[in-house]
Amino acid sequence: MRRIRYHSHGGPEVLTLEEVPAPVPEKGQVLIRAEAIGANFVDTQLRRGMIQTELYRRPLPRPLTGDVVGTVEAVGPDADPDLIGRRVAAASEDAFGDLVLVDEPGLVRVPDGLDIGTAGALPMMAPVALGALRAGRPARGETVLVHSAAGAIGHLAVQLAKVLGAGTVIATASTAAKLDFARAQGADAGVDYTDEDWPQQVRAASSGGVDVVLDAVGGDIMRRSLDVLAPYGRLVTYGAASGELGAVPVADLFALRSVTGFSLLAAYAADPERARKDQAELTSYATRGLLRAAVHARLPLTETPEVHRLLESRAQLGRVLVVP
Ligand SMILES: NC(=O)c1ccc[n+]([C@@H]2O[C@H](COP(=O)([O-])OP(=O)(O)OC[C@H]3O[C@@H](n4cnc5c(N)ncnc54)[C@H](OP(=O)(O)O)[C@@H]3O)[C@@H](O)[C@H]2O)c1
Repeated sequence: MRRIRYHSHGGPEVLTLEEVPAPVPEKGQVLIRAEAIGANFVDTQLRRGMIQTELYRRPLPRPLTGDVVGTVEAVGPDADPDLIGRRVAAASEDAFGDLVLVDEPGLVRVPDGLDIGTAGALPMMAPVALGALRAGRPARGETVLVHSAAGAIGHLAVQLAKVLGAGTVIATASTAAKLDFARAQGADAGVDYTDEDWPQQVRAASSGGVDVVLDAVGGDIMRRSLDVLAPYGRLVTYGAASGELGAVPVADLFALRSVTGFSLLAAYAADPERARKDQAELTSYATRGLLRAAVHARLPLTETPEVHRLLESRAQLGRVLVVP
């Protein structure tokens, strides 16, 4: 089978296609023949060696993370043999290959007829969007601001904010086309956060300030987001796509603002039952047509470097899929 690895940190060209024997599932594992793999932006930063936090540190050579959708081809000892032939989705730290090994408990059974983009969002992207939103404790009717709202997680967060009962949802992104896309996901207003006065534009759209901000851009965008919060407003930080984590001046919190962090890995480590509950909730939204993941492009596995170039160009509206 073919798979992708990088043996050194660097640009997209370090991504290497390798031919290796098919893996054999061990105890509790399942082998999936990949139909499509959803790419993750964070891998572009990991590939460049930009992220050195303990949570993400792994040795080289390193595979790419992603969400695989496909059919179970084989199961290991103790895994359910009835899964063979079943269409499933799962997140994996070694997702870019013709065949992908995953642990059975992490599997999502894809409902019949669900489109491939939405199926691929169920293991990780949609749970991150849901978890980040819930970390902001949005009450019905409150105003929610979603940064980088045209991205893979961002556009799902816009949809889920509405599902959870948000009042006004404000989207930010870097181009007019992305803002149109975010409005099509249900956002009530769009603000280009490359404009210097974007906080004023957000305040104008929010009448009285924002109750919950979801931010995975970091840096200046995260820091200036504090200024758009209403009294008792909450900023949820769950990533740093800009490459800068940013700092929160404690004095800025005195105006009744709070900042909280969210990581899916940490959330599921703290409460292993939560993954199952998230899946049930999100699958229900998906089958009822309340949650739909947009697919920006589908590229072959051989063009994985091109996938990373695309993600780094910030062009994607929704998710980029690799099709083996
Ligand atoms: N906490 C968790 O558990 C968790 C799990 C998975 C991912 N994440 C994080 O969630 C974020 C979104 O991930 P995703 O896969 O859905 O990516 P994505 O949103 O599809 O892509 C990243 C977006 O970030 C924006 N961006 C802002 N500054 C940028 C810069 N300097 N360079 C490149 N992009 C920039 C771009 O949108 P604009 O062009 O509109 O600015 C870009 O499209 C990432 O920060 C990722 O690390 C967190």
